[in-house]
Amino acid sequence: MKMAQNNTEWNENQLRKYDFTLEDIPRFDCNDPNVDILISSNRPVVITGTNLVSTANKWNLEYLEKNMGNSDFTVFVSRNHIFKYYDEKKITRPLANGEIYKVDFVPPTTRRDMKISEFITKLKQWKRGDDRLYLQQALNNTIGSSIVQDFRGFNWSWVNVKQKANSWGPLTSNLLLISMEGNVTPCHYDEQQNFFAEIRGHKRCILFPPEQFECLYPYPVYHPHDRQSQVDFEKPDYSRFPKLREARGMQAVIGPGDVLYIPIYWWHHVESLMRGGYTISVNFWYKAGPTGEIVYPLKGHQKVAIMRNVEKMLLEALQDPREVGPLLRTLVLGRYTE
Ligand code: SIN
Ligand code: FE
Repeated sequence: MKMAQNNTEWNENQLRKYDFTLEDIPRFDCNDPNVDILISSNRPVVITGTNLVSTANKWNLEYLEKNMGNSDFTVFVSRNHIFKYYDEKKITRPLANGEIYKVDFVPPTTRRDMKISEFITKLKQWKRGDDRLYLQQALNNTIGSSIVQDFRGFNWSWVNVKQKANSWGPLTSNLLLISMEGNVTPCHYDEQQNFFAEIRGHKRCILFPPEQFECLYPYPVYHPHDRQSQVDFEKPDYSRFPKLREARGMQAVIGPGDVLYIPIYWWHHVESLMRGGYTISVNFWYKAGPTGEIVYPLKGHQKVAIMRNVEKMLLEALQDPREVGPLLRTLVLGRYTE
């Protein structure tokens, strides 16, 4: 695998090993016309030279400890290196008969509110076998004033131009991610456009296009792990998920100054490199723009949106998650199957 040329900052041994065929995500300077071509066609690209978050270049543990402020911040705690997202609101569901349906599910991580000093102390003292931590906190008005100042100094004119040019909706949030080395956010998709800006350390990002929906087997929409792949990349169960063998991904290792465009509905798996120290990143999430004129045949991401709506509609009509699968089976088997 060839990625950053003359790279001396990390090596292949810091990447986890998976079965996939992966090609490199293209990498261009922000002035290269290919950047706009790729963004406008919803294809991933690593963009260099944007200075999008260069006011945050000075962010390190000492600076953050001094300047984040005394609020509580959201930290996820995991027994292992996997931080699989879940929606707490989907763990239980009231049924039409008044009973509560509980999804068969054990939360893989716990969410804790922590002062920045506690988080940083734990990060510094961490040793193998301890719980792992991952801070994921929206940059909002709970943050200290120096950080707000740095945030104001982000290259807003660059992102605003991209947002307008591609008719994206409003910016919804900027998530600050501070990760221990080796942490993994497993494969999932988001329903927003994302500029993912790396500030410190290196992250390896593996992406798959929305067209590979059937290769990645997302959980049902009612499940707390909605939008997450059911596949464990480290121990893939090919008998349950045979199409996984057909998955063809793209990857990049991003470092300080790089911005990765993660298109809406693209699957992504993100790992902080092993033995690479902690990492700091900031997400810029944008709502999808207005649909505009629809061109047929529909694109992969539009079909994913339709499938989500069909699932949600069935759930709404049947009022019981357990009835959705059987109904879909009746609808399809022997009628829409060979
Ligand atoms: C991560 O950086 O760990 C996850 C980012 C994302 O899913 O957008
Ligand atoms: Fe994501």
